[in-house]
Order: sequence, then structure tokens, then C-alpha cells
Amino acid sequence: MQVHCTCTHPPMRFAPSSSFSKFIGFSKHFHTLIAPSSPKLSPFVLAATMSTDTLPTQNHTTATTTQRPLQVAKRLEKFKTTIFTQMSSLAIKHGAINLGQGFPNFDGPDFVKEAAIQAIRDGKNQYARGHGIPDLNLAIAERFKKDSGLVVDPEKEVTVTCGCTEAIAATILGLINPGDEVIVFAPFYDSYEATLSMAGANIKCITLRPPEFAVPIEELKSAVSKNTRAIMINTPHNPTGKMFTREELDSIASLCIENDVLVFSDEVYDKLAFDMEHISPTSLPGMFERTVTMNSLGKTFSLTGWKIGWAIAPPHLTWGVRQAHSFLTFANSTPMQWATAEALRAPESYYVELKRDYMEKRAILVEGLESVGFKVFPSRGTYFVVVDHTPFGLENDVAFCEYLIKEVGVVAIPVSAFCLDPEDGKNLVRFTFCKDEGTLKAAVKRMKEKLRK
Ligand SMILES: Cc1ncc(COP(=O)(O)O)c(C=O)c1O
Repeated sequence: MQVHCTCTHPPMRFAPSSSFSKFIGFSKHFHTLIAPSSPKLSPFVLAATMSTDTLPTQNHTTATTTQRPLQVAKRLEKFKTTIFTQMSSLAIKHGAINLGQGFPNFDGPDFVKEAAIQAIRDGKNQYARGHGIPDLNLAIAERFKKDSGLVVDPEKEVTVTCGCTEAIAATILGLINPGDEVIVFAPFYDSYEATLSMAGANIKCITLRPPEFAVPIEELKSAVSKNTRAIMINTPHNPTGKMFTREELDSIASLCIENDVLVFSDEVYDKLAFDMEHISPTSLPGMFERTVTMNSLGKTFSLTGWKIGWAIAPPHLTWGVRQAHSFLTFANSTPMQWATAEALRAPESYYVELKRDYMEKRAILVEGLESVGFKVFPSRGTYFVVVDHTPFGLENDVAFCEYLIKEVGVVAIPVSAFCLDPEDGKNLVRFTFCKDEGTLKAAVKRMKEKLRK
């Protein structure tokens, strides 16, 4: 994989302060670790890429004292344990309140859980059809019509996947050839870079900058070349909470149509659109035939562990997605698919209430963070909010998160972890508000008491 960034810095994920390197078990030579040039990394350096709970245990029957070096294929060498795993295990270790990883600390609705239990009792427990049980494909198509106004064929244009993560992987692996250029907007959800890397894509990165994280249209236009195969969009956008505006999407659509470029659109937070209407890029004129729309159950139904997702695309693109899906997972959990069909048929009041609850949580966290002294950027959608941590004087986002966990007892995620160039995220950290009110208030209280400018 080659990476082109519109910046002058060498590509690297983030440069932790030296104490944080030790703290999270990273080598001090983090830069070489994340962009290694030699395939023969020392066992120590390789081991440092894995969290201790993923390290292989010693084989006592052979009683050997030398550990075998960890191995990984070249295309994945630069990736390490994800920041979310690291931060969540640190939260446990330090008793910190976890406003880092985006999973709710409250449960999903009973009617969906009951539907799963019923499906298991009814014996719906064997392999499902590869592209989804017919009832779920239908429920996804019905929901999509309500949301986007588009009528899609549940049999030919909907593929059920293992969460949106697999929809992303099946789309990229099924439609991208080695050497194809794919444009991503940084900061971006971390699986994009890793999966594009597995597909051998050339990543071109366009940075969205605060306060509005607006798309720099002229920069995007000049990034599109005859080799550009696809643009990845995520709206509402993790980590920034930005929502792509109609003007931005119209410009992207014109560019894609003129240059015969595909759009891969990740819309897992579509039901958490607070301040403006969510627009699916595929609903714009001329876009359905060139767009794969990806979504999942997890965020909307607070059931992130169920991992039921889907990809919607015209038959000629669905072909590629299904070819990859067939050999990634082939089929996904049968009873959970039955329950997901039930979930997607929830009355509109469910979605209204979900949004209202999340807007209340957003208000608690945003007001709290402002009262602590952060510069808070608008979160128009998702369950994340990004702040500028620089009023507190730490050298970068990683150093700030280190301080926040150790000295304050709160976990946030450094935004540089979502960027090809860590400079782009070094002033920013992300908090999540997918937690109950008490947890959000307790985190704010800790920060108010302990964070000093
Ligand atoms: C932007 C984005 N896309 C995809 C996913 C993964 O979704 P799933 O859990 O359905 O695989 C996430 C999860 O955090 C996300 O934030």
C-alpha cells in the first residue's frame, strides 16, 4: 500500500510522550514500529505492538526460554492494537471513567432482545442464507425506503454482513484492486486504513479541520485523478460529529459522476443526526448506481455486540461485495438476524426517543466540557464530541489523554489515532456521550476538580 497525504509530514499514527510509551506498552521507537521498513523487527518491538492480554501464552510443555517472534503479514505490519482496545483496558486498570470507546453502558431495548431469545427457542439456529435471511433483507429495504425515499430490491441489492465493519471490508475487498486510489477524509474510522491496506489500495487523504470540519472542495477536486476508484464518506462523522451538508455532497456527487468514481458511504450513525437532516449520498441524482451504503444495528439499538450490519448497492456493485462477503464470513448469526428484522420495524417513536435521549446526553457532556474549560466543537450527529485540549498545556493529544487517565481518572481518545498524519489531530481529543447521565456527570465532576489550566 502507498499512502499519499496532502501534508508534508511522514506518515505515522501518533507519537506518544515517552512516559505514555511505557504506560501503554509501546516501544519508544514508535515511529519505526508503526511504519516499519524492515520485515525483521525484533521480538521486543513486535511484542510491543500487542496488548498484554493478546500476547500468546508460553507453552509450558516445551519449557522453552526463548519466545518466538510474533508474526504478521507485511500488509498489516504497521497496524498495532487499536487505540480503543488500549484505552478500554487502561480504563479498567486505572479505574477511570471510560468516555473513550463508543459503546453504550446501557442495554438495548427489550423487544429486540426478546425477539432474539424467541428465535433461538424457535430453532432458528442453523446457517443463514449467505446474503441474509429473506425477512431481514426485506426489513432493511423497507427501512431504507422510509429513510432515503429509495426503493431497493431486498434480494439483489441488500447484503447482510457481520456489522458495518464487515460491510466495509467486503466492499473494499470486493471492489478495489491493488493500486486503485481511494480518497478518505481524515480523521477517519480506523478500519478504513487497515482494510484499504489489505486490498493494496493507494490511500489519498484529505483532512477535515476544525471548527466545522468542512470538506475542502478545491483540494478534493485536485486530489481526484484518473486512478481514483472511490471516495469514502462517513456521515454523521466519527470522530468529529460533523454531518456532510447537501452542498458538500452535491459537489462530491458531481465530481464522482464526472470522473466515474464510486462512493462508499458509512452511515452507522444515521439515526443520531441532531442538528440537521441526514442525507444518504446514494439518494442524490445519479449516485445510486455508483454508491455502496453501509450501516448496522449496533449504534441505533445500543446492541454493539450483536454485529449485524448490511451493505446496500445496485446489483453490479453488490456482486463484488457478495463475492468478498462469501469468503469473509459467508453468513451471520441467524437468530440475531431475525431479531434485527424486528428491530428495524420499530415504530418511529423509538427513533424519536433515541434521538431525544442522546440530545440530553450531548447537552450534559458539552456543557460540562465547556465549564471545565475546553474549546468544544459542534457535535451535529453521532455520539461523540471533539474538543481542543490545548488550554491545559499538554504537548499533544496523546500526552493529554495520558494525563487525563492517570491524574484525572477519565478516558478520552486522541484524535491523532484517526489520522495518517498525527499533526492533524494533535490538538484534539474525542469524548463519547453514549453513557448514562450519572457516568457523564461523574466524569465532568472529576475533570472540574482535577484539570488545571
Ligand atoms: C464510523 C464507524 N463505522 C463502522 C463502525 C463499526 O460498526 P459495527 O460495530 O457495526 O461493525 C463504527 C463503530 O464504532 C464506526 O464508528
